[in-house]
Amino acid sequence: MEEIVLAITGASGMIYAKTMLEYFYKQGMPIKCLISKVGERIWEWEMGRPISSMLPPEIGLYAEDDWWAPMASGSYSVKAMVIMPCSMGTLAAIAQGVSNNLIHRTADVMLKENRPLILVPRETPLNVIQLRNMLTLASAGATILPAMPGFYQKPKTIQDLANFIVGRVLDLLKIPHTLTKGWDEVQKNEGLR
Ligand SMILES: Cc1cc2nc3c(=O)[nH]c(=O)nc-3n(C[C@H](O)[C@H](O)[C@H](O)COP(=O)(O)O)c2cc1C
Repeated sequence: MEEIVLAITGASGMIYAKTMLEYFYKQGMPIKCLISKVGERIWEWEMGRPISSMLPPEIGLYAEDDWWAPMASGSYSVKAMVIMPCSMGTLAAIAQGVSNNLIHRTADVMLKENRPLILVPRETPLNVIQLRNMLTLASAGATILPAMPGFYQKPKTIQDLANFIVGRVLDLLKIPHTLTKGWDEVQKNEGLR
């Protein structure tokens, strides 16, 4: 199975990235992790420990200035890239084609090679520049999947909310999962169908 690249940037919502990493690790599915400098600091702030002390060695962790990392080249095969959480700064850099770090460069590569690129932005409210950048990326072939969990599944915990977003990412990657229930199943459980 070709691997997935998960890039973690300096936006709030590290629980989304942690949930996806745990899911891949438990399933024995290949994943590599890129993280920006600010992303590392926000991970530690929100998760309580540095990411380097939480990731198993099987999951490669690449710093944003690791230009020699394999995914910086289109000749290296990657199934899909997910940027989650995605900061407005990273989103803008990719929309403008500014390859300032390994995350921007890998996203550029995904677009030029016509490979799936999913961005999970976390910001609110959004200004016109940010909305335009999202439109630019969607027009270039990327998928914008905002970190906007639904509530129709009646979530009980913060983890339920994170599972909703990661479940939608896995749906797009066509990876079967049980993180969330489909609307159909929710209605059946509620006796509506
Ligand atoms: C605690 C904290 C939370 C932040 N949350 C967000 C956020 O949710 N969305 C966002 O776009 N920027 C957020 N920022 C600002 C970004 O980290 C900042 O713009 C940074 O330059 C992004 O760099 P990166 O994209 O290379 O990770 C936050 C910063 C801090 C310190």
